[in-house]
Amino acid sequence: MAFLINDVELNESYPKDFDEVKHVGFIESMDSHKEDYINAMTEYLRMSGIYWCCNSLALLGKLDNNHSSIKKQEVISFIKSCECSNGGFASSQNHDPHLLYTLSAIQISLLYNSLEVIDSDKVVAYIKNLQNDDGSFCGDEWGEVDTRFSFCALAALALLDKLDCIKEDIDKIVNFVLKCHNFDQGFGSKPGSESHAGQIYCCLGVLALTGNLHSIDTERLGWWLSERQLPSGGLNGRPEKFPDVCYSWWVLASLAIIGKLSWINKNKLERFILACQDVELGGFTDRPRDMPDPFHTVFGISGLSLLGTYPRNILPINPIFCLPQHILPSHLQYQTLPPT
Ligand code: FPP
Ligand code: ZN
Repeated sequence: MAFLINDVELNESYPKDFDEVKHVGFIESMDSHKEDYINAMTEYLRMSGIYWCCNSLALLGKLDNNHSSIKKQEVISFIKSCECSNGGFASSQNHDPHLLYTLSAIQISLLYNSLEVIDSDKVVAYIKNLQNDDGSFCGDEWGEVDTRFSFCALAALALLDKLDCIKEDIDKIVNFVLKCHNFDQGFGSKPGSESHAGQIYCCLGVLALTGNLHSIDTERLGWWLSERQLPSGGLNGRPEKFPDVCYSWWVLASLAIIGKLSWINKNKLERFILACQDVELGGFTDRPRDMPDPFHTVFGISGLSLLGTYPRNILPINPIFCLPQHILPSHLQYQTLPPT
């Protein structure tokens, strides 16, 4: 019986060189959709979209006003206009606040060296209000619980240098994350949920920010994560799934946090990521020959940054915060495990 793997075959005609100029052009073209349909359809995730675009440019050293058509003052005013009365940030004006967009707002402010736009005491109050007794976090007032939100809460507090404000709750926050730890050493969104590389990144982020990486079996987790690499070189997020460029971030950052980046074949992954560039429009797609978007673009560039294998001008990235290393002050250089 034939053994079928959900994978793609890389064709010789797929791009092999990193086209920085095209990618900058693709990201900057996002700004020209201000009045159209795409703009209206993406309001619900705009704040994160701006983070993906600004982070892509920052990793290429092209975010400052001299290089970029994205204007700092416009972005900062946009962030301010999304601040809600309870201290959280919404994706766009007149939307509800959410932890996802609160973290994105803080990340963008840091990228622009403008953290003063964030009222950190109000953000702390907002985040504390979303904590549950079992140590989990809701994403917003409507109550969905997910380990993504545990990460957003802790990463936001850490970036604001406010982790101390929840120090008496750290044990239960970590215990909730450990309840989502599965027999295969992965993590899911809730206790009992299937292991998923995106959730693993979030849970490892929480463990790294709280100094608890020693409480898991990183050898076996490293094995599960490296099993995500398919014959094409691309990474998937769970067994049986197709490869996808965004998992070059979720899987690779997780491996970097536990010091096991060398457990995958870097050259094959690089070849897969480069094959996912759109040679006409610029930007990255999830798989070769799909449509490019800012989400897969930032995670393609971030994955290449973590790999560090290709002679190009991508700046080093922090595997916990998904921000360029050089913008993070020394107190935000949290320890990851040493490479093995
Ligand atoms: C896959 O999602 C990714 C996740 C579940 C992790 C998302 C993490 C965050 C939003 C935290 C903030 C992130 C950063 C980088 C600062 P998917 O919906 O694409 O999963 P699928 O491939 O299974 O559809
Ligand atoms: Zn994806």
